[in-house]
Amino acid sequence: MRLLNKVSLITGAGKGIGKSIADAFAAEGARVLIADRDEAAAHAAAASIVARGGVAHPVICDIGSEEDVNAMIDAATSHFGTIDVLVCNAGLGFHRPLLDIELADWERILRINLTGTFLCVQRAARIMSGKGSGNIIIIGSTSGQKGAMARSAYGVSKAGVLQLARIAATELAPLGIRTNAIAPGPITTTLSNSNHTPEQRRAYLERIPMGRYGEAPEVAAAAVFLASEESSYINGHILNVDGGLNEAGLMFRPSGAPSFEPGADHSGRQVGSPTSGFVDRL
Ligand SMILES: NC(=O)c1ccc[n+]([C@@H]2O[C@H](COP(=O)([O-])OP(=O)(O)OC[C@H]3O[C@@H](n4cnc5c(N)ncnc54)[C@H](O)[C@@H]3O)[C@@H](O)[C@H]2O)c1
Repeated sequence: MRLLNKVSLITGAGKGIGKSIADAFAAEGARVLIADRDEAAAHAAAASIVARGGVAHPVICDIGSEEDVNAMIDAATSHFGTIDVLVCNAGLGFHRPLLDIELADWERILRINLTGTFLCVQRAARIMSGKGSGNIIIIGSTSGQKGAMARSAYGVSKAGVLQLARIAATELAPLGIRTNAIAPGPITTTLSNSNHTPEQRRAYLERIPMGRYGEAPEVAAAAVFLASEESSYINGHILNVDGGLNEAGLMFRPSGAPSFEPGADHSGRQVGSPTSGFVDRL
């Protein structure tokens, strides 16, 4: 019960990482607002928490809309009286080469991932500053910290939210508000399932020292830690949850070692454990 009665507003909590964070927060005793633009997903996620004896309420909101964000903040305060924790998780993934990206797509990704996160942080922080306490967690990405192929809009949006976390940590700490960010590497969700081609998946697996994608509950565990008093002196930190991807330097696979990807090696031969070979031989 590390988050007992903490009113926690989680955006994009209808599915994926956000839903896992909502489930983990509710299991720690938080009162959870499930904010999502997908109405059915928001209601289902809230209902599943309530069915397990937790406290949850759905809010329909597109974080790219200032009007929606204001209404979401109003719904949170009218339903639960305040906001103790904000988790800015809602976002869209996008791969498009720099030379091909359309202005409309660039603006859509920046509008939701960056401007939407800014709106949520600013409006929730105004509530938190009034009571002199609060906790903000922003979900960034390893893509916001390194150069990468086809990541111009997404990578810039995620670099922007990580910088927003640092600035909020600096400006809001005197008001009693801590801000931190989580930077996941590739995590198994509907977003990565639909977004990552087999080539991208193979490239990621080759570069992750732990040799696998992460799972949404592994990101949620980091969010519980940052929302709890266990992290009481941590402010402005970017916590990578990425199997070592962001900090890894040179990696190579000894010749003849099996591929990380379960099922097949470079030549298409069937192989066993995804982590046999390279990791075992280090
Ligand atoms: N999955 C990964 O590999 C990965 C890696 C790094 C970072 N992230 C980040 O984690 C966050 C969650 O990703 P996910 O993989 O769980 O995605 P997902 O697509 O599985 O779930 C995202 C949820 O957010 C909601 N959403 C999307 N746009 C919204 C908007 N404008 N307003 C309100 N709700 C909105 C969707 O309806 C959905 O319920 C995103 O910010 C993403 O960039 C994901």
